[in-house]
Amino acid sequence: MLVNTTYAALGPDFLTGRAGALENAHQMLRRGDGPGGEFTGWVDLPETYDREEFSRIQAAARRIREKSQALVVIGIGGSYLGARAAIELLGADSAAPRICFAGNGLSTDALLELLESLEGQDFSVNVISKSGTTTEPAVTFRIFKKLLEERYGREGARQRIYATTDKARGALKSMADKEGYECFVVPDEIGGRYSVLTAVGLLPIAAAGISIEDLMAGAAAERERLLVPGSDNAAWQYAAARNALYESGKRVELLACYEPSFRFFAEWWKQLYGESEGKGHRGLFPASVEFTADLHSMGQYIQDGERILLETVVRFEQPRGQLYIPEDPEDLDGLNFLAGKSLAFVAEQAINGTRLAHVDGGVPNLVLTLPRRDARSVGEMIYFFEFACGLSGYLLGVNPFDQPGVEAYKQNMFALLGKPGSEARREELLKRI
Ligand code: PA5
Repeated sequence: MLVNTTYAALGPDFLTGRAGALENAHQMLRRGDGPGGEFTGWVDLPETYDREEFSRIQAAARRIREKSQALVVIGIGGSYLGARAAIELLGADSAAPRICFAGNGLSTDALLELLESLEGQDFSVNVISKSGTTTEPAVTFRIFKKLLEERYGREGARQRIYATTDKARGALKSMADKEGYECFVVPDEIGGRYSVLTAVGLLPIAAAGISIEDLMAGAAAERERLLVPGSDNAAWQYAAARNALYESGKRVELLACYEPSFRFFAEWWKQLYGESEGKGHRGLFPASVEFTADLHSMGQYIQDGERILLETVVRFEQPRGQLYIPEDPEDLDGLNFLAGKSLAFVAEQAINGTRLAHVDGGVPNLVLTLPRRDARSVGEMIYFFEFACGLSGYLLGVNPFDQPGVEAYKQNMFALLGKPGSEARREELLKRI
């Protein structure tokens, strides 16, 4: 990953002034002895991942592709967004089953529509939950398990269900062992939002026909680069810049990309940074925009609203092909001055013009550049954002690997659902509704 901080309106010492703190954060990530250090297994994962399990993932993906017109991936948050991010950004190949995502909400309508779309189609299920007890995927899996058993019998269903969960604990692991589902592991030392390069992301990504070897090779190459501390380190540059901008009063980081397929990668990034940094009433709020589309909707606010924004633009240097603007003899739209120019050339001018306009309007820009939209670059980008997130959290003074705040809604929901043991809370909540 290349990081350009030229347009971020930063002082000359934004990085050198933080070098000591960055070095400290860097070493805590490497040694795993900082806050939440027990969840830094992702740091060495691109080198140390379980090759035997990796081969099993590839074999399972082949079976899914042979037997199914659709793969239903059931999971939420860190057990969902990474796979969807990579699949939407890279695109499934033409022989892939339709990859559908379920269990990432509680919408009856969405689930009914998915079930309807699966009528008459052979499908498999990959249920993903580290804890094995998360409500949304658990209730969704009940529905799909019943459907598969009705359609294929218990043995047929067993051959179509793949469980990705804790290696030893939890309700999903117990059920998978009892039913004989093929299991893949979410390692203890890797939290949900850092787990895309484990079986959590790799099985759906491989089923989509994307090279998970290239993905891991990209992550391993980025790891080699980022493990070298110092001011040339791209993760240091990004972490230092966003920390300096936060301290200067910026409160929202907009992740922008000119590729519509980037939308779910931005969702993954939002969870990574929001859940890692949003603690103790601190942290940049991560938001995302899709350019140029959102320049025609959010553009006004970005240019001229509250000056609390910084913008991080992800760029892929080379498009996958070229399109040229044709000459029009009538030239009714007056655009013949563009005839013969590539669409990529037009996009380039939009990108440069937007950056300068936003910088002039008081929105500092960070530019992150990757060569192209392929599996290797995506592996690099995933590792880059994870490593930079760990550094950023430590610079901010928070534990980047826990998420105590997400429990509050769950406790209320369980109490309102009448979970045994939460009667007092239920009474108290009912009085307030
Ligand atoms: O990052 C996290 O910890 C969360 O997003 C979890 O991944 C999410 O809540 C799903 O949890 P689980 O995999 O235990 O079902």
